[in-house]
Amino acid sequence: MILPIYVYGQPVLRKVAEDIAPDYPNLKELIANMFETMAHAEGVGLAAPQIGLPIRVVVIDLDVLSDDYPEYKGFKKAFINPHILEVSGEEVSMDEGCLSLPGIHESVKRGSKIHVTYLDADLVPHDEEVEGFLARVMQHEFDHLEGKMFIDHLSPLRKQMIKGKLNAMLKGKAHCTYRVKTVR
Ligand code: NI
Repeated sequence: MILPIYVYGQPVLRKVAEDIAPDYPNLKELIANMFETMAHAEGVGLAAPQIGLPIRVVVIDLDVLSDDYPEYKGFKKAFINPHILEVSGEEVSMDEGCLSLPGIHESVKRGSKIHVTYLDADLVPHDEEVEGFLARVMQHEFDHLEGKMFIDHLSPLRKQMIKGKLNAMLKGKAHCTYRVKTVR
């Protein structure tokens, strides 16, 4: 089922999301719905707060980018209760967008390497070092679980430049091809 995506201004996007218990009801169905919602909106990542749930569940699909990143062919994964323990490596800048910030694309500086723990869709625990583009996508998505969005990483000047677009979203204007839930 395709769910509406919560847009900038929705309080759930600013909450710290909670770990879920292994018996969280209908988890498989939730993950399937998140993958479907993300694909419909042509995103590569989606965090549960973006569909209104303040819980630590994220889906990432990099297979759709495998023309540009052949190393991610077939990469389509759910992450349950992810936590970033450390960000390291050199800082790299790259353009980012977000389904909860339609129409905004800005360069964001992030460390190239992370140490992360999570459960996979079968609730098997993982403890990994991740590098490169996937480390960036994970940082963007896991930020959502801390109530953060990529615009929080921008300089005051860049923030000023996008203020008009953000204010429009607060007034309920979001131009995109997928269904959204604005604050009003
Ligand atoms: Ni996002």
